[in-house]
Amino acid sequence: MPARPEQIVDQHAARWGLRRPGEMKLASELVLDAERSRIPKDRYLSRAFLERENERLWTRVWQVACREESIPAPGDHLPYRIADQELLVVRQDDGSLRAFYNACRHRGNLIRPEAGTSEELRCPYHGWCWSLDGSLRRIPDRHLTRGVDDETYALQEVACESFAGYVFVNPDPGAPPLREFLGGVADRIAAFRMEEQRLTSWHSLELACNWKVGIEAFLEAYHVPGIHPQLVNILDETNTVYERLGVHHHMWIPYGLPSTRVDGATDREIYEDWLREHFRERHLPGAAGSATWEPEFDEKGAIVGERSARDYLIERQQAEGRVRGHDYERLSREQLIDVDHYMFFPNFVILAKADDSFILRTRPHATDPDRCIFDVMRLEPSDARGPLPVPAVQLVESTPESIVENIGEVIAQDFANIQRVQRGLHARSLEHVTLTANEVRVRWLNDDIDRWLDGD
Ligand code: FES
Ligand SMILES: [Fe+2]
Repeated sequence: MPARPEQIVDQHAARWGLRRPGEMKLASELVLDAERSRIPKDRYLSRAFLERENERLWTRVWQVACREESIPAPGDHLPYRIADQELLVVRQDDGSLRAFYNACRHRGNLIRPEAGTSEELRCPYHGWCWSLDGSLRRIPDRHLTRGVDDETYALQEVACESFAGYVFVNPDPGAPPLREFLGGVADRIAAFRMEEQRLTSWHSLELACNWKVGIEAFLEAYHVPGIHPQLVNILDETNTVYERLGVHHHMWIPYGLPSTRVDGATDREIYEDWLREHFRERHLPGAAGSATWEPEFDEKGAIVGERSARDYLIERQQAEGRVRGHDYERLSREQLIDVDHYMFFPNFVILAKADDSFILRTRPHATDPDRCIFDVMRLEPSDARGPLPVPAVQLVESTPESIVENIGEVIAQDFANIQRVQRGLHARSLEHVTLTANEVRVRWLNDDIDRWLDGD
């Protein structure tokens, strides 16, 4: 009798020595019933739904505005746009952070349209001016106004807190503390010490898809064989596991082994494909790295000896880390090679890895459900061999071509894909999308969005 799909997945895991984090579940343990597997397509297309999100979600949820290192010194500020709202995060004289509506109390102009540094927040239109803490400092010809008192005309503040170097804002005056909102996801990512990492690139572009279509493509690995065929020898999407962490969630994708869908990948192919992707996606020169050894392959491409290609790749990562001066002691063997995907509800995904992390964020367009703003950032650990990478302060307005050039082919494939999805969703014949359990996080995300839209 042929093995059942679940058995194949388990046998593959055993053969490759995968150790699944105990609390995480395979897709086969998370199968959705028919009703829960369907998501009405209106959520991705309708103006009314977008407006409800803008009204009920973005005004009340903690969301990542930027990284701490982008605004390190007093007076540094960075605008953050969410839907039709404009906010401004400002580093204070005492090193703390505050965020305000980026709207002049005079006639509404954006006070600071760009990231920058200044000793005070002066609106360029007529010169009304606030201190960094938002208190009103100066109004030209103030004697020609009535009823403009300092207290009422301070900048309007929104909650602002940081965690692991990420600066969060929340426009809701009744917002719970950030740590309470993050709950278990904060504990899970602690080992990566992201507060010590530095933002080394930040690309931002507008894409022709809904913000949820955009982020949902990073909540599952089911699409890998279809959209990223170059990865099938080195990533087992069928052994991916999932866990919910309050409104956030976590997905763990094993790397350095082939998908169970692939027949007959040799050790050499696995090893070489991994190195190629690893170095290409990081734009590092060659695959020479710092390891001084290579596994020995026989004429069929099998590694000589007991250890697997995955074992060698893990050791290679350890060796690389030692040369670069990174402290990998706190990370498990799995964390050195696999990809830990974390989602901060509702729109922020971290692909946490030992040697760098990718960050993906989608934000809604102010009025058009068919468009979103997509940010791609990279974090790198400080390197003991040299100074920290220069923090990326400036957003780079990117094109799909510059994304391939600067960030890599995998993301470019995703970008092309999600824009095709948005076009397809308009089909009059289509009422809903249908999820497999591999895509359970898409269900979770939409459940929590509903909670925000329908709740108090
Ligand atoms: S609108 Fe800002 S000073 Fe007039
Ligand atoms: Fe992808």
